[in-house]
Amino acid sequence: MPRRPALPTIPLELQGRWTLVERLGTGGGQSSPLLLRRERDGFLGVLRALKASSPYNVERQRREIRALQHYHHPNIMALAEHNIEAEPPWYISEYGDPFPRLWACTRKRMQGRPEALYALALRYVRELLEGLAGLHRLGVVHRDIRPANLIFLPRGEEQARQRIVLIDFGVAYVPDALRWRGSPASGGGVPSPAGTGYGRLEKADPARDCALVARLLADMLREQPPRQTWQGRGAYHCMQFAPGIPGEAIRALLQTCEDAARCPRDAAHMLRLLEEALPAVGSAAP
Ligand SMILES: Nc1ncnc2c1ncn2[C@@H]1O[C@H](COP(=O)(O)OP(=O)(O)O)[C@@H](O)[C@H]1O
Ligand SMILES: [Mg+2]
Repeated sequence: MPRRPALPTIPLELQGRWTLVERLGTGGGQSSPLLLRRERDGFLGVLRALKASSPYNVERQRREIRALQHYHHPNIMALAEHNIEAEPPWYISEYGDPFPRLWACTRKRMQGRPEALYALALRYVRELLEGLAGLHRLGVVHRDIRPANLIFLPRGEEQARQRIVLIDFGVAYVPDALRWRGSPASGGGVPSPAGTGYGRLEKADPARDCALVARLLADMLREQPPRQTWQGRGAYHCMQFAPGIPGEAIRALLQTCEDAARCPRDAAHMLRLLEEALPAVGSAAP
């Protein structure tokens, strides 16, 4: 009988307080075990031993923590606990339902009710932009917004009561001011030595996140959502939308957001654009 792979060990400082329950499979950069602490689940982001030997991966993990440790918004992943100094660094966040699977179920459940689907997608996209607006003000750019980097919280709740949450800040742009170890509030902390090397990703424009959010909205509502792949730009010409969903307006929004000259500056700007560009629910052209 094939033996199940052994569970990774959890950081020593968590032992006794958290219990490792399950390995959740692995993403590109990290092993993703689920932890259980009494009544509440948590998601542990920690590198597998092999990955932890790469300074790039370690810095990627630190970047995530740096981007998030001082920002609190219900639609942006919250860190319950973290240790940026640990070798390797780790964080615990809330454990959510994966966006791709849940949204596929929602689409099925709402078949024949395109206006309700449109209203829900619009709500999620607005919430996401509200969370991003504060990050953009701090100069953080996520750079990798797509279904696999979104979850719904609280886990297992009825969809109407869930909120959309952006995760995975592994390739985010984090400006120097936030690139500190320790808390700036408690005396400034120490600049990360990696900030000049592995940690320094090219500066990114918040407009880039806006284009990805527009793409997300289109993919949530189009007739045949991409199964696995994330479509490249320009594919909006052949997107089909069910009657009751304002396909023309969504295509036009996407086109604007992917055009460097016309794209919204940041998430706050895009929120305003959304109000003008997309018809209110119930008034969509057939
Ligand atoms: N807090 C979380 N709750 C539930 N699932 C999560 C959570 N964080 C990550 N995941 C799952 O693990 C996968 C990989 O995690 P992610 O942070 O995106 O790392 P990476 O893509 O860098 O490997 C995600 O696509 C998601 O399915
Ligand atoms: Mg990811």
